[in-house]
Amino acid sequence: MGNQKISTKALHVGHDTNLTQGTRAVPLYQSTSYVFDDSDHAANLFALAEPGFIYTRLNNPTNDVLEQRLASIDGGIGAVVTAGGTAAISNTLLTLLKSGDHIVASNSLYGGTYNMLNVMLPRFNIKTTFVNPNNPKNFTKATKENTKLFFVESLGNPKLDVLDLEKISKEAEKFRVPLIVDNTVATPTLLRPIEYGANIVVYSLTKYINGNGTALGGAIIDAGTFDWSNGKFPEFTKPSPGYHGLVYHDALGPAAFIAKARIEGLRDLGAALSPFNSFQILQGLETLEIRMKKHSENALELAKWLESRDEIKWVNYPGLESSNYYSLSKKYLPKGQSGLITFGPKGGFENAKKITDNTSIFSLLANIGDSKSLIIHPASTTHSQLSDDEQLLTGVSKDLIRLSVGLEDIDDLKNDLKQAFKK
Ligand SMILES: Cc1ncc(COP(=O)(O)O)c(C=O)c1O
Repeated sequence: MGNQKISTKALHVGHDTNLTQGTRAVPLYQSTSYVFDDSDHAANLFALAEPGFIYTRLNNPTNDVLEQRLASIDGGIGAVVTAGGTAAISNTLLTLLKSGDHIVASNSLYGGTYNMLNVMLPRFNIKTTFVNPNNPKNFTKATKENTKLFFVESLGNPKLDVLDLEKISKEAEKFRVPLIVDNTVATPTLLRPIEYGANIVVYSLTKYINGNGTALGGAIIDAGTFDWSNGKFPEFTKPSPGYHGLVYHDALGPAAFIAKARIEGLRDLGAALSPFNSFQILQGLETLEIRMKKHSENALELAKWLESRDEIKWVNYPGLESSNYYSLSKKYLPKGQSGLITFGPKGGFENAKKITDNTSIFSLLANIGDSKSLIIHPASTTHSQLSDDEQLLTGVSKDLIRLSVGLEDIDDLKNDLKQAFKK
């Protein structure tokens, strides 16, 4: 389905109705394991000599359809789905890195990812230098002999900075390291990072791709463009003790990374996606493109309205002409700038908390990308474990309110905020 468009792929890729008793919906295969024809068949599957299903921690027919759809939509050669976005990131990093390795990462990251890089991985002697991604040369300055990858968010949560992926990928190429892009906030219907040089794309499917707030999920998409035999990744060119001497680069070529992320990453770390969640995420993916259009339209109109209000000190949305990222958003997000807005009310921290306490349509909770509108005050919640300096580094000022603008009627959303401002 190579030439078909995103909305068609989101509905059809990977599902052959002849193989599923004619079911028009992708079936939910809620099974942990799969009966082998005989011992030789089992041995062949374990040896990767023929394709097939072994055990749901490694692969599952429902997950397989989701993987094929996501890879196809993003223009990748393969995908692995995981228990959540965090699992997609940890699987990717632990598949590629070992003790002594170094990461250069954008300082504009989701708080959980920042903690993984800043606190968890250093315990295993994997260190990260965080850089301001607005100047791609900062990646060059931070790169060292042991740097193995660059990690960024295409549209940072919650800073909402649009990154110049093309320039950053050129820097990564110079140092022969892969560029890994978390594209959760933009989604592949608004931005496809592989077109700008990303080698690996990761997602939290929990957010817009599912869209209903009902299932955690994550995905790793491999562009298949990185040369793992360039000398920096000997685990791909030497026999793997973890898979009976398999030399990933020789056996799997461009698919070496995504295969390792499955047969060692999922096998050894275990954070596989439940097929039940996969089934729900497939329903969400079917309508992703039209939902992202509406999320973006609602968010742009609400951001403009907030800019016009006396109660508000500042508004940040990459689709606003006043945004520092307006010209980058024209290039990278021409179809829409997604559904997140941040703003600061007059009266700072205290008023920000009061507003988040007084909305009724906007639910106060720690998630983004639901069809329902959401609100949060990160400084007192999602980012409260970070120091004041770290909060600022990741784009969280004390007065910042984050909105995840849903699909409700725009007038109802304005009225809800209006009554909260009054209170
Ligand atoms: C940009 C981004 N990446 C990754 C994650 C982690 O995803 P999950 O909660 O599915 O593990 C989040 C969660 O908020 C996120 O916003």
